[in-house]
Amino acid sequence: MKGLLNLGIKASAVLFSGAMLVACSNEQDPGLEFAPDMYHSIPLDPYSQIKENLYNPGGMNMREPAAGSVARGKMGYNMYLSKDEAEVAGVELKNPLEYNDENLAEGQLLYTRFCASCHGDQGDGQGLVGVKFKGVPSYSAGRVAELPAGHIYHVITNGRGRMMPHGSQVNPTERWKIVMYVQQLQGGEAPAAPADTTATGTTPTN
Ligand code: HEC
Repeated sequence: MKGLLNLGIKASAVLFSGAMLVACSNEQDPGLEFAPDMYHSIPLDPYSQIKENLYNPGGMNMREPAAGSVARGKMGYNMYLSKDEAEVAGVELKNPLEYNDENLAEGQLLYTRFCASCHGDQGDGQGLVGVKFKGVPSYSAGRVAELPAGHIYHVITNGRGRMMPHGSQVNPTERWKIVMYVQQLQGGEAPAAPADTTATGTTPTN
C-alpha cells in the first residue's frame, strides 16, 4: 500500500514538472494591457462591454429591443419582390386591412401628411410641391386610375421613376391605409369624408 502511494507521488511529481516545462515553454504570453482605457472607452459602447453596466436593467450596455421590434426595412408584406416589380405586386398583394371608416380616415390623414404635397388633396397631381416638381400623375386618369392596391403599396414602399420611396416614413400597416385612400381618389371620390363613402356603398376594387 505504501509502495503504491510512493509511486503515486512520484508519478504526480513527474506530471507536475512536465506541466511546468510546458508552461515555461509557452510563448503565447498575453502580456499586460498597456493603457487599457485607450481600448475600453469610458462611454458605454453598445457592442463591447467589459464591466457590468450599473445604470441599465440587466447590466447590459445595449438594451434588448422592445417586444415586437422589427429592424428597419425588414418588415413588409412583399420582402421577396424587388423594387422593379410593382406590376407583380399588383397581381400578388391584396390589402390585408378591413375596408372601414376608421382605416380610411387614417389613410386620408397619412395621405395628407406624406403624399398630398405632390399628389394634391384631390389626387390630381396639383399639390403645392407637385406643380413645381412636375410629372406627378393624376390618380383618376388613364393607367394610374386602374392601378391595383398591391401596385400602389409597392410604389409607396419602393418609389417609382421620379418618385422617391416612402417605405421608411410609413410602416406597412400605414401604407395599406394610404392605399385604401388612394383607391378612393382613383375613383375621383377625393374630398368625401370617410363616413359618406359607406353611404355610397363604395368597396375596394380588389
Ligand atoms: C415629391 C413628390 C411626391 C410625393 C411626396 C409622392 N409622390 Fe407619388 N409620384 C410622384 C411622381 C413624380 C410620380 C410619377 C413617377 C414616374 O412615373 O416617374 C408619382 C407616381 C405615383 C404613383 C403612380 C405609380 C405608377 O405606377 O405610375 C402612385 C400610385 C403614387 N405616386 C402614390 C404616392 C403615394 C401614396 C404617396 C405618399 C405616400 C406619394 N405618391 C408621394 C411624386 C410624389
